[in-house]
Amino acid sequence: MSKKSPKNIIEDRKKEGIELALKNTSAMTKTTLLECVELLHCALPEINFDDINTSTKFLGHNLKFPFLIDSMTGGTPAAQKINTRLAQAAEEFGIGMGVGSQRAGLLSNKLAESFKVVRKNAPNAFIFSNIGGAQLSQGLDYQSIKKLLQMIDADALAIHLNPLQELVQPEGESNYLSVLSRIDELSSDLDVPIIVKEVGSGISPSVAKKLSATKIGAINVAGMGGTSWAGIEQIRAKKFNNKQKSNLGLLFWDWGIPTAATIFLTRNSVKTPIIASGGLRNGLDLAKTITLGADVGGFARPMLTPASKSYNSLKDFINQLILELKSTMFLVGAKNIDDLKSIEYITTEPLTSWISKVRK
Ligand SMILES: Cc1cc2nc3c(=O)[nH]c(=O)nc-3n(C[C@H](O)[C@H](O)[C@H](O)COP(=O)(O)O)c2cc1C
Repeated sequence: MSKKSPKNIIEDRKKEGIELALKNTSAMTKTTLLECVELLHCALPEINFDDINTSTKFLGHNLKFPFLIDSMTGGTPAAQKINTRLAQAAEEFGIGMGVGSQRAGLLSNKLAESFKVVRKNAPNAFIFSNIGGAQLSQGLDYQSIKKLLQMIDADALAIHLNPLQELVQPEGESNYLSVLSRIDELSSDLDVPIIVKEVGSGISPSVAKKLSATKIGAINVAGMGGTSWAGIEQIRAKKFNNKQKSNLGLLFWDWGIPTAATIFLTRNSVKTPIIASGGLRNGLDLAKTITLGADVGGFARPMLTPASKSYNSLKDFINQLILELKSTMFLVGAKNIDDLKSIEYITTEPLTSWISKVRK
């Protein structure tokens, strides 16, 4: 049997990642804890629903709504179709969009096309590139980083921190040496802002502080409770008969800081703009994350599911999301996003402990 090239290995992994995420590989026994946030009802909103203003500015870009399509895909023919639809929606709705890790795009011109379709279909939207912290640790050079930004004429670069995924992934690269210093260096050298993101295990206060000491533009906390990458890699490890990694994936399936907690803790530690993601599933979830301290929300799997069916399914989902967000704003008396950031809310257990009892 012939040995697969790095390009084919990445292509296969991307394909499996999409297929498994579509099967709903979410946290198993734990949640985002967004259900422990209760926004106080306002019986006297004194707002005309139709006048509610959902627009916001993020990293210098005007967004019509305070959410993004989070970094997901590219690198396979199926991904090209999905990225085309996601980009069309980003352009039509005036929201932002991230592509998935562009490592595949650096290896082959054909695979680069699955990323390039994004800028072609979203000439004006806020679009961001993506690469892994592990690749920075391995010495991915400045020229390659410029190349991946140029591939989609990117407005920002997302660098993902995924130590858990790398550990469980059968072919994972669990070397995280010097990642912070590379982020620091790039945050001074690049002419677009950097977004540092997790992929589903959250950002702790100490990591947030280290990141905010660099010149990065934003942190995407990507907390626990949504898509589980330990889960996706566990299923792949099992398929490859890698028992150790499969057991590891089961043990750490729900590892991480719940999304509601990581937003609150990060906002209370640093002033850096925050993207909230990890298990946001509707407009009420989104509104809660903004009240907890996020500037915008990010949706990955909930966008992937309709985008893999048709453009109309994706539009239906986004329209529903907007209706739910505006309805929440109406019910709490928030006429714009600044109001939503400062409304009254309570937290219940176990979130209250998460946000008040972090010890060292
Ligand atoms: C199919 C799929 C592929 C993803 N690929 C990437 C990636 O390449 N780079 C990255 O930073 N995050 C990636 N993510 C993580 C998301 O950006 C997000 O942080 C995480 O899935 C949590 O959001 P969710 O619960 O809404 O899915 C991916 C998520 C999904 C569902």
